[in-house]
Order: sequence, then structure tokens, then C-alpha cells
Amino acid sequence: MPQKNIILTGFMGTGKTTLGRLLANQIGYEFIDTDAQIEKQIGQTIADLFQTQGETAFRKLEAKLVKELAKREGLVIATGGGLVLNPKNVATLRKTGRIVCLTATPEEILTRISKQQDVRPLLQEKDPRAKIIELLQQRTSVYQQFPQLSTSKQTLEQLVDKLLELINSNS
Ligand code: S3P
Repeated sequence: MPQKNIILTGFMGTGKTTLGRLLANQIGYEFIDTDAQIEKQIGQTIADLFQTQGETAFRKLEAKLVKELAKREGLVIATGGGLVLNPKNVATLRKTGRIVCLTATPEEILTRISKQQDVRPLLQEKDPRAKIIELLQQRTSVYQQFPQLSTSKQTLEQLVDKLLELINSNS
């Protein structure tokens, strides 16, 4: 039986990596984080890549990685938050599995990313909260094409259960 991939997308700080890793563990799939994979491939952090080569170079690497991952199965993939802005990436990933979008409020996003070590180049602004709101507004229509799972006020265990329900109900 082919094992369809499970793809978690959504804005920065919505818990894709944390939840994805847990889910993969629980169902015996391999976990892939696209940002971490790119960093491994180029030997540079995403923040450094943005600085030295710009966002366009990063988006090209994302698209290349999507094509590689689409050849595989049995994966839980946590995407970078902007990966699904490219419709080609979405079309390719859809062929290999189910895409679910995680959501959180701007306040939760800000709190979560402030606690993390990873630098988010797109949020290096005087007012990161305003930038989060602006980007969320720009991206709403893209994110809304996927089934949504709110990560607010829920334990990770509850979220994994809900995620599995969502994926199974749509299969
Ligand atoms: C981005 C999200 C980041 C990373 C890059 C750009 C975005 O990943 O890919 O900084 O455009 O939303 P996370 O969503 O894992 O933070």
C-alpha cells in the first residue's frame, strides 16, 4: 500500500515542525522539515541565505526540494511558511499526499517565534507584529485552500489526534 505523504503548512510559528515531528514518530513516517533540509544542502542558515543571495534564491531551492520530495512516500513534511505561495509547489505536493494548514493568532505567532532561535528574515522589522498581520492578510487566500487546524489552546497530543482525524476524514 502506498503511504501518502502528510504535508503541514501554515504561517511561521504555527507549530508545523513540532507537530510534524511528533506525528511522524507516532505513525512511523520519516519527518522532513523543508527549511532544515535546505540548510543541510547548502551548509548555510536560511537567514544567511536571504542575506547573501536573497529570497528568490531561497524560493528556487524550495521548489527544487519539493520536486525531490514528491518522488518519495511515507513522509511527514513540514514546509516553510511561504512554500505554498508557489502554486506549482502546491500542485506537486498535492499529487503525493494531503496538505493541512496549521493556524494561530498573530499574538501566539509572535510569542512562539520570539522564543525560538531561528531567525525569520521576513520578520526582521521594527514592528514584527504589524508585519505578521500584513503577511497573514496577503496569504489568507492561499492558506485557506487547505483544511485548517487551529493550534490555539490545545495540547500537542490533542493536535496530533485532530490532525489524524482530519487526514483520515479527507482521504
Ligand atoms: C518563511 C517561513 C520560514 C522560512 C523562511 C520564509 C515564509 O519557515 O521558510 O524564513 O515565507 O513564511 P517557517 O514557516 O518554518 O518559519
